[in-house]
Amino acid sequence: MTDTKYDFGIVGLGVMGRNLLLNMADHGFSVMGLDLDPKKAAALEEEAEAGKSVKGTTSIQEFAAALKSPRALMLLVPAGKPVDAAIDNLVPYLEPGDIVIDGGNSYFPDTDRRFTALAEKGLHFFGMGISGGEKGARFGPSMMPGGDREAYERLRPVFEAVAAKVNGEPCVAYLGNGSAGNYVKMVHNGIEYGIMQLLAETYDLLKRGLGRSDDELQRIFEEWNNSEVQSFLVEITGQILKKTDETTGQRLVNLISDRARQKGTGKWTSQNAMDLQVPLPNIDMAVTMRDMSAYKEERVLASKTLATPPTTDQDPENWYILETQLRNAFYFAMLVTYAQGLAQLRVASATYNYGLHLEEVAKIWRGGCIIRAACLEDIRKAYSNDPILLNLLLDPGIGGALLERQEDIRYIVKLAIDRGIPVPGYMAALSYFDAYRSGTLPTNLIQAQRDYFGAHTYERIDQEGIFHTQWS
Ligand code: 6PG
Repeated sequence: MTDTKYDFGIVGLGVMGRNLLLNMADHGFSVMGLDLDPKKAAALEEEAEAGKSVKGTTSIQEFAAALKSPRALMLLVPAGKPVDAAIDNLVPYLEPGDIVIDGGNSYFPDTDRRFTALAEKGLHFFGMGISGGEKGARFGPSMMPGGDREAYERLRPVFEAVAAKVNGEPCVAYLGNGSAGNYVKMVHNGIEYGIMQLLAETYDLLKRGLGRSDDELQRIFEEWNNSEVQSFLVEITGQILKKTDETTGQRLVNLISDRARQKGTGKWTSQNAMDLQVPLPNIDMAVTMRDMSAYKEERVLASKTLATPPTTDQDPENWYILETQLRNAFYFAMLVTYAQGLAQLRVASATYNYGLHLEEVAKIWRGGCIIRAACLEDIRKAYSNDPILLNLLLDPGIGGALLERQEDIRYIVKLAIDRGIPVPGYMAALSYFDAYRSGTLPTNLIQAQRDYFGAHTYERIDQEGIFHTQWS
């Protein structure tokens, strides 16, 4: 047992837990980590700088006894059953007034359930999405807390100290009621899936569709990162394309299997968007394409029989112009992907009574997280100008940026279609834009069909009421 009382504890000393504790220690907090794996508990202390108050343990009892009262502790364990198991193991050692935070990618209804269960025991509980991976946790993540506001306020100094900073402002803020924090993080990950898919399509079009070399690909993404599409995901794409494999000397990316894995947050975003009836085609497509990637054997089989159509389009004469068109198309599709995610947050906030302020969400996404990007400052401004903005596409600045680039995305999509390169993300963004700006959609025909075969009735544009027709 130890006499020192620690300010903050983390349960689960994987890369995220360990690095977040070291980050807290850098900011002067005394911290303690719990992991049932003795190697992980030891690694925390080994990595801690001399003189910092950092302790690792495998004993729940020691952990609970060493934390200052009322205790503040965070769970950083895999989502699902491990979170419930960790809570069940800890609860006997906790006292009313203690704060338990779930910092993982938990499914938001689980957070609501756990909040109620722990409140009955007098324990404060809140969910807080954390983004930024290993480096973010160590040097400044973006954090998305929601739920128990009183508990968050008590810990605000800790989180504001360790969060990433943009213009001196911390990338953490109380977002709203209930499971708001986990919900916002889920949509963050959905947007992450959407943008990663767009980058993969860009890479495919350049490499397979237009025959650009690995060196050229690397240069393009590096240049893009100094332009308006500057973002963490563009930056790491340039770095990935540069990396050579130590054993073969080849570009490592070319040696990586194309079966993409997923832990579920993108799928949850799409599933919930369907429940809320929010159109979200870029995120749906991103999930679909990861699923498609898993059908490796079938794709290989089909590649032998289903040939690409002969290319009718000429090779672009001016590569410089083409690269600019492609960058504009990417910027367009990226903005539309953010617009879809934020539109989902607007509806979710009203449905689940989260009380989200989308300017605040855009603000804390500007730094530390995986979807940080230069355009998030423009997105923040859009919500600052109009806090109840229905859709980012209606903001004059964002709408104007899309209009300026629509010709380019249309050209890029045509180029990809002509070369048989799948660009469902680019197409989804353009179709979303075209559908959203259509005052009239052809869904009157769908209504007529429903009424024809199922007597489902329809409404008219020239008369009030509900109608049914004997069509045949
Ligand atoms: C982050 C990431 C992080 C994680 C993803 C990966 O914000 O730091 O989103 O949460 O890397 O969950 O998700 P997939 O395994 O589903 O791609």
